[in-house]
Amino acid sequence: MSADSETAPCISATDADGHRLRMRAWQGDHVTTRLLIRPARRSDLDGVGPLAGSLSRAQVRLQAAERGDESMAVAVLASWIVGVQSIRWSRGCDPPHPWLYGLHVTPEVQRQGIGRALVQAAEDLGRRRGAHRMTLDVDVDDAGAIAFYQALGYVVRRPHQHRWRSVDPQTGDVIAEGTAATLIMGRALR
Ligand SMILES: CC(C)(COP(=O)(O)OP(=O)(O)OC[C@H]1O[C@@H](n2cnc3c(N)ncnc32)[C@H](O)[C@@H]1OP(=O)(O)O)[C@@H](O)C(=O)NCCC(=O)NCCS
Repeated sequence: MSADSETAPCISATDADGHRLRMRAWQGDHVTTRLLIRPARRSDLDGVGPLAGSLSRAQVRLQAAERGDESMAVAVLASWIVGVQSIRWSRGCDPPHPWLYGLHVTPEVQRQGIGRALVQAAEDLGRRRGAHRMTLDVDVDDAGAIAFYQALGYVVRRPHQHRWRSVDPQTGDVIAEGTAATLIMGRALR
């Protein structure tokens, strides 16, 4: 990304399917790049894998979205998947509120507003489904993520011991599990 991108005008819009679009025009070279946030599909697996940390983790999340237990969205910039998020609609870490997790933006395009757009897309979907609050948790020592969510209006609600499990996408077997010290954060959806 050029330095011009920091001062380029950014336009938000929603397409006919309700997907959030953001356009940023680079003034120097007259290139216009459009960011699309849309539901993830099975064919996104290879693009989502590196962002999720592994192909199998991405596959488990896609399967949960296909079952309807969760939603998963990708951010696409010029056909390149540059971000991902998932929402768990029940059995999150702060029930009965939906739980936003798995948010990741490709390092090369961080601090360009893509994480914010992904969170806003999750909040829009939560509102449409009647949720009053979006919740999430972050590792207690992840100062960058905490600052990011605070910038988006999230506040710390309480400390939490997060129980995580890795599941084999083929068999459904739990292949690893553990706990992590996290902070539950939330934001009212108005
Ligand atoms: C956290 C993450 C998703 C943010 O995505 P992003 O696209 O870089 O964030 P945005 O550009 O939308 O940032 C919006 C605002 O959040 C704040 N912010 C973002 N990253 C920050 C950081 N590392 N430190 C402090 N503030 C930060 C800033 O106020 C920023 O606005 P600004 O750039 O105009 O100052 C991204 O850094 C990431 O994928 N990190 C690795 C995975 C991760 O930590 N996921 C969340 C864990 S639950």
